Amino acid sequence: MEFLSKFIRLSRGTSKSFQEEKSFQDETGMGAEPGDGFPILNEQHLESAGDIPCELLIGKLKESGAVILRNAIRNKREFIRLTKRLAPGEERGVVASENSLEFHGELYSSGCPPDILWFYCVRPAEIGGQTLLCDGVTIAVNLLPETTEFFMKTPLVYERAVGRKSWAYRFKTKDKRKILSELQTLNVTASFVGETLHTRLETSALRQTKWGREPAFINSLLHALDSTGRADVSNYGLRTAIPDSIVNELRTLTVRYAYPIHWQRGDTVMIDNTRVMHGRRRFQGRRDIVAVNGICTTETLLMAAHR
Ligand SMILES: [Fe+2]
Repeated sequence: MEFLSKFIRLSRGTSKSFQEEKSFQDETGMGAEPGDGFPILNEQHLESAGDIPCELLIGKLKESGAVILRNAIRNKREFIRLTKRLAPGEERGVVASENSLEFHGELYSSGCPPDILWFYCVRPAEIGGQTLLCDGVTIAVNLLPETTEFFMKTPLVYERAVGRKSWAYRFKTKDKRKILSELQTLNVTASFVGETLHTRLETSALRQTKWGREPAFINSLLHALDSTGRADVSNYGLRTAIPDSIVNELRTLTVRYAYPIHWQRGDTVMIDNTRVMHGRRRFQGRRDIVAVNGICTTETLLMAAHR
């Protein structure tokens, strides 16, 4: 594919500096130093009627892969209205434990990741709890050439076991045949053993972004390997053997380019889930973040920009 040859060109020129980098892991577990920034739009960017400047928002999203809105959304209702306008999806909470979470693309082990991931901060944690962003395009550019080659030759294989309650909720049906046929269209191998749905997905760690068609390292590899962080929330595993040297390289790079969102009440974040991975620092105290897995088409975004 054309984008894979772009990978080779990009990674060859820029891949050696990571070895000189020291690790920034700190006691919070996920990166102490901020990496490249993402744009923040605030009340000064609001339009004269106090509306969200959708054209600017979408422009920044396409350019940077994520955009933060601060002092612009007054409550959860306004947040949901914005998601419905640009990239609607189901409202949900986030992982309830206080653990840190390793970087991942949302639902990348499912075969059907959302285009846009939205977050809205109802209440930041008292201590810690920053959401971390990491641009998969930057990671792809900085991979060692042999690592790029490894991922081009070696698919990631995720296996998942899902209980009845979860699959019925996710697929909005109890019809097993319907579910299996839907999964088939997503290239997910699936079967039921009793009431447990078993899935197997073979996919690439390197993907093309939705906007810009750039090569990006975006997947759930690190999250899948972090068994302590995810054990209480997920029941999936990575069946692909990844050499330790590559895992170390990925951890070093993602820590180096991690961008922490220091949440303030009302902050809204729009993330291009085809490009930017997210994670979280551990925290203490109550933390209330609402998430929406948004589905959109380029047309939806363009239309919204001109409404
Ligand atoms: Fe997530």
